[in-house]
Amino acid sequence: MNRLENKVAIITGASRGMGEAHAREFIAQGAKVILADIKVDLGQALADELGDNALFIKLDITKPEDWKNAVEIGEKTFGNINVLVNNAGILGPVAGVMDLKYEDYLKVIEINQHSILLGMQAVIPSMLKAGVGSIINVSSIAGIVACFGFPNVAYMASKFAIRGMTKGAAFEYGPKNIRVNSMHPGFVLTPMMIEATDEDASKEGRSALDEIPLGRISETSELTGIVVFLASDEASFITGQEHIVDGGMTIH
Ligand SMILES: NC(=O)c1ccc[n+]([C@@H]2O[C@H](COP(=O)([O-])OP(=O)(O)OC[C@H]3O[C@@H](n4cnc5c(N)ncnc54)[C@H](O)[C@@H]3O)[C@@H](O)[C@H]2O)c1
Repeated sequence: MNRLENKVAIITGASRGMGEAHAREFIAQGAKVILADIKVDLGQALADELGDNALFIKLDITKPEDWKNAVEIGEKTFGNINVLVNNAGILGPVAGVMDLKYEDYLKVIEINQHSILLGMQAVIPSMLKAGVGSIINVSSIAGIVACFGFPNVAYMASKFAIRGMTKGAAFEYGPKNIRVNSMHPGFVLTPMMIEATDEDASKEGRSALDEIPLGRISETSELTGIVVFLASDEASFITGQEHIVDGGMTIH
């Protein structure tokens, strides 16, 4: 149970959902973890529960000064950061092209896409000092294909962009021993998913579930294995790749 010994990780969006699941498993695998989120009470309570190897820091992923602060405090507390899980994101309004407001489009792009750049810019200097790094950028199957029941070109634009940013950064930083991969969940049972509605799909008598060969939505824990693997030295020769965990949703 020490697959992440000597790893110092920042996980964004760690207060709930998939980020919380990743934080729990990272700690169980021996990592030191900075849990970063804007939901302070939830995140602090989780860090308290996880013990001395967990530290909650309030971080709005759209703010460069918050990233700087998190890296500085993280380095002082645990040493150089060598893992970043760029997980936080929002779904934004589920709206077709003509119904999507431009300000909503920009907000989704800022939170989901621009933050990926800010996060990489903030941690790479620490990883260079460490001499090793693994960045896992959380995209979605909406960064691979269009998803039935979730018309949202803003979300898709942001999640497709993460694929490209990941490959570009992987290419640039491979020679410095920093690996960068993207992870693409299908439908996962998290507060984000529960808050989203699928009314249009059910009106048509068709459900997004019908699109999943394994026939169900996944639990958060089913996404954590791939993130632990990519963060660990077991994945030492894997970079620039798209890792899809979707119950087979994108195979047809
Ligand atoms: N749930 C799914 O089915 C699903 C599918 C594919 C991809 N994803 C992606 O996985 C990631 C995690 O999703 P989730 O379902 O666990 O979501 P969630 O809403 O349950 O949790 C997301 C966390 O991110 C935090 N967050 C939001 N905006 C933030 C900001 N500006 N700064 C810091 N933290 C912020 C929230 O406070 C929250 O704690 C997201 O990037 C999401 O797009 C989710």
